[in-house]
Amino acid sequence: MAMSDADIQIKPLCQSADLVEGGRAVPFDVVYAGQTCRAFAIRFEGQPHAYLNRCTHVAMEMDFQPDQFFDASGRWLLCATHGAEYAPDSGECAGGPCRGGLVKVVLSERDGVVHWHTAYNLKPFEFLD
Ligand code: FES
Repeated sequence: MAMSDADIQIKPLCQSADLVEGGRAVPFDVVYAGQTCRAFAIRFEGQPHAYLNRCTHVAMEMDFQPDQFFDASGRWLLCATHGAEYAPDSGECAGGPCRGGLVKVVLSERDGVVHWHTAYNLKPFEFLD
């Protein structure tokens, strides 16, 4: 059965002010393809972006320091394990051993609040409760 837009839920994630340009990420949990997974949101060039916290080199979380994904330059998202670099605005692999880009979570921002959007393979954590 095809999913329609009516199946997409829009979930509050954080306050806009919680996402500081190049700063710490806001973590959240999702269920991706049936598995509980960490995700994180960051702000880059003014826009909020979110991805699964799962490196495409080895499927593991990327932040060595909790919620710290930006490299020292603030230009790339870094996997602390072997140094894969990802573009903050697209999640595309930008260097290092990554194999493809990060899984993106769609966000929207309105009235000072950031929301994330579910998708056919991306559900809220509480979905399993
Ligand atoms: S696990 Fe991320 S670079 Fe190897």
